[in-house]
Amino acid sequence: MKFFVDTADVSEISDLNDTGLLDGVTTNPSLIMKSGRDIMEVTREICAIVDGPVSAEVTAIDFDGMLKEAAVLAKIADNICIKLPLTMDGLKACKHLTSDGHKTNVTLCFSANQALLAAKAGATFISPFIGRLDDINIEGMDLIAEIRTIYDNYDFKTEILAASIRTANHVKQAALYGADVATIPPATLRSLVKHPLTDKGLEAFLADWQKTGQKIV
Ligand code: E4P
Repeated sequence: MKFFVDTADVSEISDLNDTGLLDGVTTNPSLIMKSGRDIMEVTREICAIVDGPVSAEVTAIDFDGMLKEAAVLAKIADNICIKLPLTMDGLKACKHLTSDGHKTNVTLCFSANQALLAAKAGATFISPFIGRLDDINIEGMDLIAEIRTIYDNYDFKTEILAASIRTANHVKQAALYGADVATIPPATLRSLVKHPLTDKGLEAFLADWQKTGQKIV
């Protein structure tokens, strides 16, 4: 499973990239707003840090406007992935951009039928929003399972990018259900390493090691 980080915070991205665990980045207009940075400037910095795909989202809602914005975003770097909303215009733009050789991420997916359309439009990634479905008492993880089945039935190459991940359990469930990628907020990504028995075990080993009076180097 690939790990993307869901943020436009450059220092977090740089820090996590140094772990070697990062395969890409997703941003959206809300995350750009939260960063307080200029979209072009911050996206350029992110693309220089991470080798994998960096999703940058269009804000136009019509086909022509989306293509114009995509042309500007695509010039930022080779690893830009154009993020498009799951609307008819977004799908049309997806088909167009994919045929032109761009990576695409169709976002705001809340149903299996929407995911089917995105695959038919040739999307590189489909982003089903787990947490936002959970928020309205619909089991978000069921959507991942449905999309996995549909994509496997027809051998669609579109990768399932589990988005709106809120908890470590979401990451585990998405992996169990066969999502290709999870885009994870920095704090949640860092929390995956935590286990109280790891901390306790390490403490005990270090205490015993001290008692031996030995050193490895
Ligand atoms: C992913 O591409 C989305 O930008 C993000 O995961 C949305 O998460 P949220 O529902 O926590 O805002």
